[in-house]
Amino acid sequence: MQKISYTLLALFGFISLSAQASDNISDQFANQFNVARSLAADYEQEAKKKGKHVTLSAEAGRAFYTKKVVVDGKELSCSACHTDNPAKEGKHNETGKPIKPVAISANPEAFSDVKKVEKNFAKHCRELYGKDCSAQDKGNYLTYLLSVK
Ligand code: HEC
Repeated sequence: MQKISYTLLALFGFISLSAQASDNISDQFANQFNVARSLAADYEQEAKKKGKHVTLSAEAGRAFYTKKVVVDGKELSCSACHTDNPAKEGKHNETGKPIKPVAISANPEAFSDVKKVEKNFAKHCRELYGKDCSAQDKGNYLTYLLSVK
């Protein structure tokens, strides 16, 4: 009898521990979704300051993500490194180094650090367009990545 209760105790202990672990991960995801959503809302506000009628759109974000531009004679797009499916691991087009998925649902670290997001936007937008992307483009891009399951 005692053996059984020890086993049961261990089992309950294990169940509550794993429940706690999954809570932590869902907390992390919830927090990250909040960061990404509020960042998208900030970009929307910023875009509206330019006097334009702006509604962020996942469809426009997807188009922006896959849009091809020619840089130094080579075709490049956000998806060239981040892959056509943002929920998949990306691959740097030149170095071949793996890049963690940018879809929020596929990577609990994606878009959780606003400074890193801003830095990467500025860097990659300059690589493709020679200048930072507009607030509207960034907002659409984020809205698209938030919509990817
Ligand atoms: C030449 C390859 C390459 C291209 C093209 C590229 N990226 Fe990236 N991107 C990366 C790499 C590598 C990282 C990861 C950097 C890191 O983890 O420090 C990244 C990360 C990011 C991040 C940060 C995501 C996060 O979770 O914080 C954003 C935002 C981003 N890229 C936006 C863009 C946009 C917008 C475009 C298209 C205009 C683009 N990237 C095109 C290589 C690329």
